[in-house]
Amino acid sequence: MRSQSALIGSIALAAIASGSSTSATSTSTSSSITTAGLLPTLSPPNGPVSAPADSTLIQIGFLGPLNYQFIIANPVSSAQIFMWLPEGLAHGLGLNSDQVVMESLAPLNTTARLHYITTLALAYIPTNMVSSLALDLHNTTATLYNDPDSSVKTLMNLINPSIPLAPGSNLPDTDSTGTGSAGAASSTAAT
Ligand SMILES: *[C@@H]1O[C@H](CO)[C@@H](O)[C@H](O)[C@H]1NC(C)=O
Ligand SMILES: *[C@@H]1O[C@H](CO)[C@@H](O)[C@H](O)[C@H]1NC(C)=O
Repeated sequence: MRSQSALIGSIALAAIASGSSTSATSTSTSSSITTAGLLPTLSPPNGPVSAPADSTLIQIGFLGPLNYQFIIANPVSSAQIFMWLPEGLAHGLGLNSDQVVMESLAPLNTTARLHYITTLALAYIPTNMVSSLALDLHNTTATLYNDPDSSVKTLMNLINPSIPLAPGSNLPDTDSTGTGSAGAASSTAAT
């Protein structure tokens, strides 16, 4: 029963590894897609969902290896986020996995600060867990980042905790002064 997820896991790690080696997976992708506004939003594989009772919609942003152009170009990766993020969030928060419901994947234009378009996962979680999640995102020893399933753990450790949880919000200080090399590395260090 483990074989299918193990197979998908090895694909994920390969996909994540190849994505991290370059900021754009092909020159045609990087030249044809220049704005976040032209990128589609992705719905869950099983179709649109409605909000569970007593839930709140939150957004989780991912780091550069899972940038949005990469996700669009690699459907396996979006399928993996839809599958594994609810598992990781639920386990991290001590919930059943059906208490975390994926709503969509969407682009967030972080080009000015991070030099890539961030992938956002929008998900419904129990409203009384929002503040716990906000704390755990900044706690590297939290269960959230130490899932027993290595594929889920890999995904959870590609979360960018600097992206605010409130849907529609961007990184603080989006002022785009071209100061050069302030990139993804500095954002991951933010507390
Ligand atoms: C994304 O941000 C960059 C840098 O601030 C800007 O030039 C570009 O127009 C933005 N794209 C969209 C769709 O807002
Ligand atoms: C971080 O997570 C660990 C493990 O759950 C916990 O023991 C610790 O209290 C947390 N630290 C903070 C500051 O919340």
